[in-house]
Amino acid sequence: MSRKSIIDDPQYGNKAEAFEAFDDIPTNPNLGNTIGDVINRRYGRREVMRGMLGVSATTALFGATALTAPRQAAAAAASRYDFDELQWGNDTTHHIAEGYDARVLLRWGDPITADAPAFDPMNQTAEAQLQQFGYNNDYVGFWTYEDGRSVLCVNHEYTNEEVMFPALGRQDNADFAGMTKELVDIEIAAHGGTVVELAKDGQGAWQVKLDSPLNRRISPLNTDMTFSGPAAGHARLRTGDDAEGMRAAGTINNCAGGMTPWGTYLMAEENFHGYFWTDNVDAEGKVVADSGNPEATSYGRYGVPGRWYAWGKFYDAWNVDKEPNMPNKYGWIVEVDPLDPDAMPVKHTALGRFRHEGAETTVAPDGRLVIYSGDDNRFDYVYKYVSAGIVSDDRAANSALLSDGTLYVARFDEDGTVTWMPLVHGEGPLTAENGFNDQGDVMIDTRLAADLLGATPMDRPEDIQPRGDGTAVVMLTNNTRREVGDENAANPRADNAFGHILEIKEDGGDHAATTGTWDIVVRCGDPEIADVGAMWHPETSESGWFGSPDNCAYDADGRLWISTDQGGNWGKTGKSDGLYSLETEGDLRGHSKLFFRCPVGGELCGPYFGDDGATLFLAVQHPGTDGTKDLVGFARNSTFEDPATRWPDFAEGMPPRPSVVIVTKEGGGKIAG
Ligand code: FEO
Ligand code: CA
Repeated sequence: MSRKSIIDDPQYGNKAEAFEAFDDIPTNPNLGNTIGDVINRRYGRREVMRGMLGVSATTALFGATALTAPRQAAAAAASRYDFDELQWGNDTTHHIAEGYDARVLLRWGDPITADAPAFDPMNQTAEAQLQQFGYNNDYVGFWTYEDGRSVLCVNHEYTNEEVMFPALGRQDNADFAGMTKELVDIEIAAHGGTVVELAKDGQGAWQVKLDSPLNRRISPLNTDMTFSGPAAGHARLRTGDDAEGMRAAGTINNCAGGMTPWGTYLMAEENFHGYFWTDNVDAEGKVVADSGNPEATSYGRYGVPGRWYAWGKFYDAWNVDKEPNMPNKYGWIVEVDPLDPDAMPVKHTALGRFRHEGAETTVAPDGRLVIYSGDDNRFDYVYKYVSAGIVSDDRAANSALLSDGTLYVARFDEDGTVTWMPLVHGEGPLTAENGFNDQGDVMIDTRLAADLLGATPMDRPEDIQPRGDGTAVVMLTNNTRREVGDENAANPRADNAFGHILEIKEDGGDHAATTGTWDIVVRCGDPEIADVGAMWHPETSESGWFGSPDNCAYDADGRLWISTDQGGNWGKTGKSDGLYSLETEGDLRGHSKLFFRCPVGGELCGPYFGDDGATLFLAVQHPGTDGTKDLVGFARNSTFEDPATRWPDFAEGMPPRPSVVIVTKEGGGKIAG
């Protein structure tokens, strides 16, 4: 099925669901080779097929056992997470475990400066939106600096026009007939990021400090960016208004991200391909590949142009017929200094170009900076970047660590080892004969370079979270396109509708190591349905198992928390997306408990722990949109006038609003402590 026909398909209730479906189409043409190479016999076919992954003595305790074990109450006495589990379900509001407070801190449209206009959903303007909290909050970072100031950094991934704008409806069709330049400008202004200073009020609760000079919106409309690293100034980054190849208009589709050890904010550009327009479509509105375009091979591997938004109808910059190099300015990791609103954000090309889900950092024992990042597409890869220099107290020098280092892609072998393969021009197949004239080409076409190195195609890598001891967990959210016979040890299920979580242990506990071992922590889905092939600790309750892990965080005690994004498929589990604790150590490894769940149609992003684990920031994205046909009593797609929920305001005429939620324990204390 073509991209266009999926976007047009009425079975998808909104753009987000169509995005999800689009992710079902792999753009990696190398599958026959790489899957064939990597198909392994680590556990033997029979063991894989019956659900046993006996990697270690503890993981062998569950697997087939979990499929038959009766559900039991969570083993609270032994759990490292001290809270009473929330009951699973789905309805129009959020829920949190008893004894905790979940307060809405920032909603789409909330003013972020003292003189910003109040949100008026019937009379939105781009000018107002640029002074208000953006749409579809995803990554949340929180940082307290040496001078005592604290900032919140939030990504705004994309927009859902059908619930944002009055009397518009869904616009993802061939013509985007209802989209005007004014609406497009509001959409663009609602993308990007927000930085706000937070301060505690008299009751000790974090509030937005509206008069802070640090508060700012970042968007393609108001924020110019520059480039660093091997592709900065590259001929393939030059456009009509940028002869130097050194400037980009803002950032788009910022999914997850990270905070560096020196408190700068990394924004990952994920589904950038969807924003590029072409007039080159057939009678049915399907994109026709332009084989004469020198970027055609790159476009094919990245899915450019996606034509998901109408921006290119009004701006040549977003139309690849007019600016064929413009897509090469997106798909990077952006660094923003929250302490310096006047400093131009930097796109660090040494970290590669792909659909970056996130950019979580850690420091190796020798002081080098390490950043993990997944490429969120079915059958795409897991990457990490290791700086050449070491982290110091000099913030400016630290930023340069992001432009001089080595990007590696992962190969997960059948013997349980992971090998990190460097993407370096002139090494191995990364030469001019294969289309790579310099390191800039290797970074612009990271995916094509990784294909040649034989990286392992994964089941949609989302967040990758490192912990200081050389451990990193990889969220592999799902991949229903993996067919029987295409399984490999690290992606052991065909038709993997619910995803799994993989744990890497770098050799010597050193995140800069080029080899390590890996293991699967859980295979997600309902453990009571044998065909699902789920693998949990057998004491995981009916509320505790989940599907489609997406974002994650370690808390102050090194305990893992997982948030989920099932998209329009939440009806397959019946569970709203939520936040789960997940044991990764000892006898309870693989034991999960539900802590928070979203209003219907929303996915959960964040999470981020602050205040030494006493404050938890969560981001409820696109409430009331995904899969609302499965909400009993509603059973239809949401619109602005008729949404499945009006969370969090529940006020007549107010649309659902993506919001950041701040979680604390009643009476104070560490979350789950
Ligand atoms: Fe934007 Fe991969 O989630
Ligand atoms: Ca995500």
